[in-house]
Parts: sequence; C-alpha cells; structure tokens
Amino acid sequence: MKMAVIYHSVTGNTKNMGDLIVKGMNSVAGVEAQAFPIEGVDVEFVKEAKCVVFGSPIYAAHITGQMMNYLLSDAGKLHLAGKLVGAYATAQYVHGGAELGIREMLDHAMVMGALTYSGGGSFGKPFIHLGPVGIDNTMDINQFADNFEIYGSRMAQKAMELFAK
Ligand SMILES: Cc1cc2nc3c(=O)[nH]c(=O)nc-3n(C[C@H](O)[C@H](O)[C@H](O)COP(=O)(O)O)c2cc1C
Repeated sequence: MKMAVIYHSVTGNTKNMGDLIVKGMNSVAGVEAQAFPIEGVDVEFVKEAKCVVFGSPIYAAHITGQMMNYLLSDAGKLHLAGKLVGAYATAQYVHGGAELGIREMLDHAMVMGALTYSGGGSFGKPFIHLGPVGIDNTMDINQFADNFEIYGSRMAQKAMELFAK
C-alpha cells in the first residue's frame, strides 16, 4: 500500500522529520512509503496512496506561505477524499504555534474530504495528540525523532486496517 509524506522545508528540519515518518510507515509490512518536498511531488504516486501526511515549519505561528499556497493550488490534484491524512510541524519554540499549524493542515485536508487521524492517546505513550512536533534551536530536534517514527508506524497501521483488502 502506497503512503506519502509531503513537506515544505528550508533548513532541513521538516525534511528530516518527514523522513523519519516514512521510516516508521515502511516498518509496517506491505507498506511502500515515500517523502516528497512540495517542489517535487510525484502526483501519480500520491493519488494511489491511501495515507498522506503533510509537514510544515512554523512561521509566525502558521504554516509557511509556501505550504499554504501548495495546499490551495496543488492539493486538489492529490485526490485526498477518503484517504487517511495526518500532519506534523517543526518549530523553534514549544509555545511557537506548532499545533496551530498542524490544525491548519488537518482542517485543509478535511475540506478536501480526507479522514484526519493521529492515533491520539489510543496507543498509550508517547501520546501524540494532533500530530508530532519537533522543536529546534531551543532544544535538540533529534530528541523528538522516536515520536516521528512511531507516529509513522501508527498512521500506517491504521491505514492498513482501514484499506488493506
Ligand atoms: C521567517 C521565520 C519565522 C518563524 N516563525 C516561527 C514561529 O512563529 N514559531 C516557532 O516556534 N518557530 C518559528 N520559526 C522557526 C522554524 O519554524 C523552525 O526553525 C523550523 O524547524 C524550520 O524548518 P525547516 O528546517 O524545515 O525549514 C520561524 C523561522 C523563520 C525562518
């Protein structure tokens, strides 16, 4: 089953965390997951994917303008309706707005008809309420790596449960 992570990243944090989500997805048997920057999305691959996760850095407590433009202008081509969709963010500060950005991406996916999901607290620890967040600069972002990988495996498990024949 194909799954995709689509991210915007300027200095690499969001790319690196997206790669960890893909690693977690690919740890689930039967999953073929790939990550794509918004500048180079394989639309045919994503159209076939059953699970899509969007990732953005946080700028001024929002997703980046580039990610918002991507969602508004290009996400319609991805056929998100009925897919399982999640979101993650990277930011500089714990109080810098990451969960607001996650909500922006999840809300957009809902408008496109997607089924939004994170697993929340249903898997126990680590609790990932809306989607994983990586904090850089004020903390070492690598200390959040496990959360991203675990989140990827949870998203993939749920997609397999829902869509595997
Ligand atoms: C213009 C700009 C605005 C930013 N605004 C915020 C912010 O409001 N809150 C926050 O926590 N981090 C903020 N950051 C930090 C980035 O979200 C953080 O460094 C992120 O991990 C960068 O992702 P990337 O390496 O994938 O580009 C800002 C960074 C830039 C360049």
